[in-house]
Amino acid sequence: MKQKNKYRSEWECPSNIALIKYWGKKTPQLPLNPSVSFSLQNAKTKTSIEIPQSNNRKVEFIFEGKSSAFGERIRNYFDVLAKDEKWLNDFSFHIESSNTFPHSAGIASSASAFGALALCLTDLKNQVEENEVSTSNFFSKASELARLGSGSACRSVYPQFAIWGEFAEISGTSNHHAVPVSENIHADYFTLHDAILLVDSTKKKVSSSAGHQLMNDHPFREARIKQANNHTHEILQAMKTGDHEQFFKITEKEALSLHSMMMTSEPPYLLLHPNSLAIIRKIQDFRRQTNLPVGFTIDAGPNIHFLYFEKDKNEVHRFIKNELMKFTENGNWLDDQIGNGPKKLKE
Ligand code: DP6
Repeated sequence: MKQKNKYRSEWECPSNIALIKYWGKKTPQLPLNPSVSFSLQNAKTKTSIEIPQSNNRKVEFIFEGKSSAFGERIRNYFDVLAKDEKWLNDFSFHIESSNTFPHSAGIASSASAFGALALCLTDLKNQVEENEVSTSNFFSKASELARLGSGSACRSVYPQFAIWGEFAEISGTSNHHAVPVSENIHADYFTLHDAILLVDSTKKKVSSSAGHQLMNDHPFREARIKQANNHTHEILQAMKTGDHEQFFKITEKEALSLHSMMMTSEPPYLLLHPNSLAIIRKIQDFRRQTNLPVGFTIDAGPNIHFLYFEKDKNEVHRFIKNELMKFTENGNWLDDQIGNGPKKLKE
């Protein structure tokens, strides 16, 4: 008779999109500057971890029914975690994972993947060590574990808005984990949508990890850190008062600064595609013509995240279909929106 696994955890965790960008880090995966993001609703990773009844230390990773190259990164991740989380050395782990979005969607899946893994591991730690992590610390602990897998993942374990990195104006902010931001935010921002316009799904030539490293000796490093801190202050102020013009101005400056850092690093590199620029121009023209509060942000890739509010959905969708879809790869775009954060699935 098959023995029941003693420990098991299953979580679903969303991806997130940064408004203020994390770019550049210090060991052990601590950010050079604060970043602010919101969790998405549709782009999620679902992960279960079981601890089978066996003694040999093994980490087995199955992605959408198959073994995956990501398994190697996860095994390295477990090695990193095990330095502090000694209990990990005593067990084997069987991990199964899947995404709600297709791989070709051009959405960075490492944030949702490490978010989901870290939530399962925090839960398992409590099962194994009998509630070592208190309920009030559960999500900050999960955020810390997620950060060690991928920096941006630490912001995914919360609903809606999160900030990661020390920021003097908000107490409790930390370089080690993200914290949720829910106070002093104008109601409109809880209706944000993110239409992800897929421009080019081919694998990018320079990974985010390599990009972060190029910030170490970047000629504009100090200026960038200062700018990100100022932008954090300015965007939180705009979100408090509901100043949408200022909100989108800062959001777009952040996206363009991120790509400027890439273009001025040593060696320089360029991730934007001609169609990324065509979409940016179109969004700016649309905003001028309609006066609607819309804007864009961009991650470390060519895809454009078109941000808008729920109330403008119909008009924006018409515009996307008529004017933007032709610049996307095979007409590919996904409509996502601000989301309610992670969810624990069955026991
Ligand atoms: C451009 O979190 O992917 O998306 O910590 O090396 O895994 P690692 O990097 P990652 O960097 C993402 C940076 C960004 C901006 C952001 O999400 O803040």
